[in-house]
Amino acid sequence: MSAAEGAAKKVYIRTFGCQMNEYDSDKMADVLREADGWETTDDVEQADLVLFNTCSVREKAQEKVFSDLGRVKHLKGRGVLIGVGGCVASQEGAAIVERAPYVDLVFGPQTLHRLPQMIQARRAEQRPQVDIRFPEIEKFDHLPPARVQGASAFVSIMEGCSKYCSYCVVPYTRGEEVSRPLDDVLAEVAGLAAQGVREVTLLGQNVNAWRGAVGGGDGGEVGDFALLLELVAEVAGIERIRYTTSHPNEFTPRLIELYARCPKLVSHLHLPLQHGSDRILMAMKRGYTAMEYKSTVRRLRAVRPALSLSSDFIVGFPGETEDDFERTMKLIDEVGYDASFSFVFSPRPGTPAAALADDTPPLLKRQRLQRLQARLEENVRRISAGLVGTAQRILVEGPSRNSGKPGKAGSGAAELMGRTECNRIVNFDGGPNAARLIGQMIEVTITEALPHSLRGVPLAGERFSGPARNPATTA
Ligand code: SAM
Ligand code: SF4
Ligand code: F3S
Repeated sequence: MSAAEGAAKKVYIRTFGCQMNEYDSDKMADVLREADGWETTDDVEQADLVLFNTCSVREKAQEKVFSDLGRVKHLKGRGVLIGVGGCVASQEGAAIVERAPYVDLVFGPQTLHRLPQMIQARRAEQRPQVDIRFPEIEKFDHLPPARVQGASAFVSIMEGCSKYCSYCVVPYTRGEEVSRPLDDVLAEVAGLAAQGVREVTLLGQNVNAWRGAVGGGDGGEVGDFALLLELVAEVAGIERIRYTTSHPNEFTPRLIELYARCPKLVSHLHLPLQHGSDRILMAMKRGYTAMEYKSTVRRLRAVRPALSLSSDFIVGFPGETEDDFERTMKLIDEVGYDASFSFVFSPRPGTPAAALADDTPPLLKRQRLQRLQARLEENVRRISAGLVGTAQRILVEGPSRNSGKPGKAGSGAAELMGRTECNRIVNFDGGPNAARLIGQMIEVTITEALPHSLRGVPLAGERFSGPARNPATTA
């Protein structure tokens, strides 16, 4: 170990992939801190343990792991341990150690809580440790309580996916869907709220497939995702609820109806369409048609007219014709999506779609992706411009990126940033009491739409609860 005698050991964690992985990386840090007092570092050169939390959803993401591993190999010279977790680890297992023999630990999304024991075993046995099993939801029973940074937090409510879309590795890397028990989720949300969290994002691959026993489970009564949301909304202190990702097939009437009577549910929904052509949707095994998807959106907007939507899109799926592609473009216009994610299809070994004949030239796929992204970008700009002059509720996260530190209460103004319900950054002058606004939900009037952010002014009464503002000190 390179840490000086008595000094805390340091772990550097690099995260790839989705929010599930971001959540898991935080849990790795928690588990290591709790077990052995490890501290996190952003400087890989200071680390005693380097962990890569990997993603294998597309080929590039997977290859990147091995090039990044090559870049930290030299650290082995001073006794640093190197570990690979996440979805590449889950899929490749011991093959990672075969390809990169200097790797000490390989663990999956479901075994990250065993990291402290794996490190011990690595030292005792002097050989790499590989543990990528899927021990049913055991992980959550072994995690220390979440530690909070800021007023917004992720809460994982389920693991895995049982949808088996024909192109996707996730069911193989994270296992089948397993819901976290209701009481566990509520206890975590309440614990976060008690530490000042105002906004929670419930996480899972298909959160609306969540099911859990209610009333202690004795009566055999099963609750659904709509019930879970209602109960989370009742937790004192929680003012805003997001969730991601939801599946179009699991939008029950109860869940749709909840948008009518639960204002804490944000008016923003990530509802991946993937493709606008029924032929391709069927080949993807998504289980819905474009018409069915649009019908869900219509029903949602009937009860929540302001609902903004974002999506994931896959371009260049095997057999995609120009006509198929145009159907996606048409749906983008019809739904009016906000900022979304789009990818060129990447054949993943072991998935059914990887075996499909694919004669669309790569250049054409890239051109289609550019056209699709340009269309989405137009929407984003139009939606941002439409917000100018409106009042938006934002959760104030802290100083805006280019503004230095916030003023201490009464000691000068500061530029702050917060997020709207549809996840746009709003920068504003926090006034002399800027520090007090951090972590609060406030209303601002949007004054300007910039390419990647908005500017706003707090509504009267939102920021002047302290001494009068001195314009001369305004940043
Ligand atoms: N469970 C979510 C859903 O069904 O929408 C998303 C899961 S996946 C981790 C995130 C996104 O990656 C997918 O929505 C899809 O657009 C994209 N994706 C998954 N497999 C892919 C592949 N083989 N090639 C390109 N994009 C892919
Ligand atoms: Fe992958 Fe489909 Fe599951 Fe989403 S629903 S994680 S795209 S298999
Ligand atoms: Fe990647 Fe695994 Fe998430 S494949 S997108 S890290 S579930």
